[in-house]
Formats: sequence, C-alpha cells, structure tokens
Amino acid sequence: MILERITKMNKENLIKKHFELFKVNPNTIILSPSRINIIGEHIDYLGGNVLPANIDLYMIGSFSKSEDFEIYSKNFKNSGVKKIKNTTNYKYDESHGFVNYLLGCVEILRKNNFKISGASICISSSIPPSSGLSSSASFGVLIIKGLLSLYNYEIDGIEVAKLFKEVENNFMNLKNGIMDQFIIANGIENNLMLLNTSNLEYSNHKLNLGDYQFIVFNTKKQRELVDSKYNERVDETSKGLDIINQSNNYKYLTEIPLVKINETLKLIDNETICKRVKFAIEEQNRVYEFIIALGANDYQKMGKLLNEGHQGLRYLYEVSCKELDFIVDEANKITGVLGARMTGAGFGGCAIVLVDKKEINNLENTLCELYKNEFGYSCEMYIVKVVNYAENIN
Ligand code: GLA
Repeated sequence: MILERITKMNKENLIKKHFELFKVNPNTIILSPSRINIIGEHIDYLGGNVLPANIDLYMIGSFSKSEDFEIYSKNFKNSGVKKIKNTTNYKYDESHGFVNYLLGCVEILRKNNFKISGASICISSSIPPSSGLSSSASFGVLIIKGLLSLYNYEIDGIEVAKLFKEVENNFMNLKNGIMDQFIIANGIENNLMLLNTSNLEYSNHKLNLGDYQFIVFNTKKQRELVDSKYNERVDETSKGLDIINQSNNYKYLTEIPLVKINETLKLIDNETICKRVKFAIEEQNRVYEFIIALGANDYQKMGKLLNEGHQGLRYLYEVSCKELDFIVDEANKITGVLGARMTGAGFGGCAIVLVDKKEINNLENTLCELYKNEFGYSCEMYIVKVVNYAENIN
C-alpha cells in the first residue's frame, strides 16, 4: 500500500486551488519533506548526536500576500479557509488547532525583527498525520520559509531550524529538541545527517545500503499523550543530570562515555531515572557505532544496532507501545530483515525496517497480514527515498 506521493507535479493543482480560494496566484511555493530518524532517539534534547534523514512524503504550500492570515489545508477540507486577523501578540489557543503553528511562526518571526504581514496560504500533504514522521516540523519549516520568501527575506536552513524550535518551545510549549526542523531545513538527498545537537555542527554521510533498504511501517495507532509523556522524559533526564552532577560537571548526559556508565548509574537511587539515563548513554554510543558500521558497509551490524536501540526505547526509556513492538518483533522473524526500530517520539507512529530489497514484497504481505490479525486494522508500508531539505519551487 503505497501512499499517493506529492511531487513537484502537484504544484499545478495547488496553484489552481490557491487561485480558486483567494483569487490571486501565489508568489511562493514551498515543498517540504518529512523525516525518519535512523538512530539517536530522544537524545536531541540531551545535547546528543543524532542521525536523521528526510523522506519523500511531502507537504506543499503556496503563499500570496494579503491583509490578514487565511489558510486552507486540502487535508482538513471540512474546516474550510481559516481566517485570523492580522494583529500583534498571538498566543497559543487550543481552538485554533494546527493554525497555532502558523501564528507561532508569525509571532516568533516578528520577535526576531522580520516584518511579516498577512498571507493567504494553501497546503496539501501526503505525510500521514500523527505518524511520528514529523508533519509538524515539516509544516513549520514550510511556513517559516514561505513567509520569509513572501516578504523578501533570505536566511539559511540553520536559522530556519532555530526559529521553529523557538516556536515549538516558547509558543506551543513543547520541550522538543532541534532534530526534526534541522533535518527538514538542511538534509541532503541520499545522505544521513550526523547532527551534534549541542553545537549544531553536522556532517552528511552517504547512505549506501547495497542490497538493503529502509522501509517505513506506520502502525496507524493514534498517538496518545505524546506531548505530556515527551515533556516528562525531558524532565526525568534533566533530574538525572542534576543528580549525577552533584559529584560531576557534565553539561549533557550524552557526554558521559560508555566506560563510565556503571559508576554513573550507581549515583542514582531512583529506578526510573536510572533507566532513562542508562538509555541516553547507550543510545549515544549506538549512534557512534552506527556511523562506523555505515562507513564499513556492515549492514548486519547496523541491523543489530537498530534492534538494540528499539529494546532500549521499549524497556528503559519506555516510549514504545505494543503496536510498535509487534512490528519490530515480527519483522525480525521475516527473511531478509536485518533489524528494526521505532522512529521519532514513539507512543505510536512509525517503525523503520532494514531489509533485503528482494524481500520487500514478502515483508509487506506477511507483516501487514500478521498486524491485521493481531490488532484488527491494517498498518501501512512506505518504500521511501532519502530526499533534500524544504525548498522553494516557484
Ligand atoms: C520528536 C521531537 C524531536 C526528537 C524526537 C525523538 O520528534 O520533535 O525533537 O526528540 O521526538 O528523538
């Protein structure tokens, strides 16, 4: 079951819709990808090194200037065009739903001295919502790039990522790290990005998987309480660092070398915090090992690291769920599969599977059937390509 993909071809349809709704042609069109994270989960708010990539499930948006803000999304047809007066001091308001992201972007851009006025915006997306593929960061990067381009500003991808992080942290009140917006604003096709979230230095690593490929499975499980559980993990790890620093001086948990894990864990007498810290230190080490395995074309090792990462997320960090665990466990029993893990924040959403290309059909048929028998509804498989950052495609 492959989703209908948004490609640059959808541009014509979007322009038509834009004109139909707002009676003007758009000046700016942005194509924005979604992302998977290969390894280094939940450590981008711990100063860690993470390894994400953009994938070709896209969002596309058209922009024209107008007095107020008006936004239409083809994915929420029933909501029609949402109109918001162009005023100052926007605040998060639950009743605005996804439009909060737009208002947050406007607010943060203005705070950063960009003179942004109103805009008419039309959006279409092939990113499955609430699937852990970061449709919100894709949307945020699209909005920031679109508004800036509409009002004749040009800034680099690193600044775009920082601005959207400000939107999430200060307007949406989520304690997210910078991984999603950073990869979406800067990632390069056919490359994984090793991003150091403590200083935003990064390097691109060619994704050469030989006979293997990454496949995405969407559990289609509605993610529940993601935001509150996410913020809880941020707080728990921050407490962990405070405890460790009673006798140390680390800036981040991910600085702690693996050889010091046992002596470090001895300092923590709270079992939950101990598990979170253990995960963070081990997960960081897996990222380094993965990079070595990638350079050495050691696919078996990569698969093993994915599996170990998943078990850490499941038992130590406790952000997986039975649907994701099922995909990972069952995938690993199928011929040609080297490893699998959940990707993104967890509590539902997607898993990635590293599989021999010849076995993709068998994997899809077997896993989707098993999943349906177990949970009573279908999961979906996406064969994805690693693509470029969000671009202006006027
Ligand atoms: C979400 C957040 C990211 C990151 C991942 C987990 O996608 O937005 O910052 O923390 O979860 O790795």
